[in-house]
Amino acid sequence: MNTYLSVLLCLAGAELLRRCYSVVICAFTGPLSKIPGPFLNKFTPIPWGIQNLTGNSMNVAPKMFAKYGDVIRVGPRDVMIAEKSGVQKILVDEDFVKAPVYEKRRLISPGFSISYLNGLEPLMKECLDVLERTLNKECEKGGGHAVINMSQMLGNLTSDVMSATSFGGSFGLVESNDLKMKNMVMDRLKRAALDAQLPFIKYLPFVPPSQGEGLNNIIDDIVATRKAESQKPKKDLLQIIVDVNENNPDTFTHLHVREEMSLFMIAGADTTSTTATFTLLLLVNNQDKLKKLVEEIDFAFPSIHDSITFAKTQDLPYLNAVINESMRRMPIVALGLARWTEKTSMISGFEIPKDTIVSPAVGQLMRDPRVWPDPDKFIPERWLEPYKDVEADKKAFHPFSSGSRNCPGQQFALKELRLILVTLIRRYELSLVPGQSHEMRLHTVPWFTQGFYNVGVKQR
Ligand code: HEM
Repeated sequence: MNTYLSVLLCLAGAELLRRCYSVVICAFTGPLSKIPGPFLNKFTPIPWGIQNLTGNSMNVAPKMFAKYGDVIRVGPRDVMIAEKSGVQKILVDEDFVKAPVYEKRRLISPGFSISYLNGLEPLMKECLDVLERTLNKECEKGGGHAVINMSQMLGNLTSDVMSATSFGGSFGLVESNDLKMKNMVMDRLKRAALDAQLPFIKYLPFVPPSQGEGLNNIIDDIVATRKAESQKPKKDLLQIIVDVNENNPDTFTHLHVREEMSLFMIAGADTTSTTATFTLLLLVNNQDKLKKLVEEIDFAFPSIHDSITFAKTQDLPYLNAVINESMRRMPIVALGLARWTEKTSMISGFEIPKDTIVSPAVGQLMRDPRVWPDPDKFIPERWLEPYKDVEADKKAFHPFSSGSRNCPGQQFALKELRLILVTLIRRYELSLVPGQSHEMRLHTVPWFTQGFYNVGVKQR
């Protein structure tokens, strides 16, 4: 028995040594060893995993780029790149595949043709009407003025827009301000991050199951209601998903339906609301830019009662410049567009071997002073004419990512953003609520650590 145990221990020891040896070899030899980065990260993905889990990666990454340069080794086989030609190569020129866990067949792109999007206008406008009624009520309660938690209000609005346009009916969150949904989504995002870093965690007996069940139930109800409808409904996102499921029940199962629907709920709502909130934050903190935008919008909509439409908001130059500059200065997806090398490639002067995760740090690139003069300032004008003799460089601007795997909801989001901003600015006077923290953590999109961002709102 003792001999048996000793042999087992020897084998375990030998395996441990072998693993340590290969970790050390991987850390110090081969092309990745030439890439700078924190010492510990050469050996293990854990330190960077912790930053991702805690949502602090967005705060740590700029400091790491300042210390190590444009290309950083953040894990044994994980590299982050902020250099323009490298980002362009990964996303566009060579259009690298996503890291295996993320790469999947696109189901939905046909849902976003221009004619489809234009058909969504009345549904989006209904949601904005509810927003206006709700803000008016708040203002009336406060004698004409209210302080609104915009991150929450706009989060509710974009969830309503997403559900009204794509899931068969608005959730009515602007009116109810029911936070259950938000908490379920947040829980799912945090849990997905935890599962990605520590895949074994879900098997531990003392770890509670994800609260994502609530979200699954909501999705199941929406799908069941749609399937039970006798009249063939219009071809919205939900119907596209349901049709694929009904035509291929074995390959696109109910689990895929849930996955696809929650992807859209998450990808389509908080992204747009956070972008809109950041744009308001930048405007109220830069009153001269806000004033210019108010002038442009008032000129385009002379009466306060003018209908605010896709067509009339589409080509307002300063508005579009404000949106671009906001997405450059405070992008909601600054990190994490992980791609995968299928063969050895030269990227930003470094040899990157096959099977490495390469993540373009687009947020860093969009604040690179070599490309953007005064990168930390909010200067919409740079999108209208050269600023300090430098034209805005579209090849260094990737708020929706780029290449064939970019955001399929880009045009949807831009149309929605324009409606939201013009409605708020034409109908209300917006003001800064001083003394608020801008500190954030990243869980898919950035969240204010204080849990809110307030804006003063007064009926015009
Ligand atoms: C301002 C708002 C938005 C921003 C900044 C944004 C940005 C992004 C980015 C950077 C990606 C990652 C793409 C990549 O990995 O290369 C993405 C993915 C995605 N976005 Fe958006 N997005 C926004 C709004 C929307 C909306 C409104 C929808 C839906 C209506 C949407 C649907 C999606 C989907 C489904 C994906 C995943 C695509 C895939 O994995 O193939 N997004 N978005």
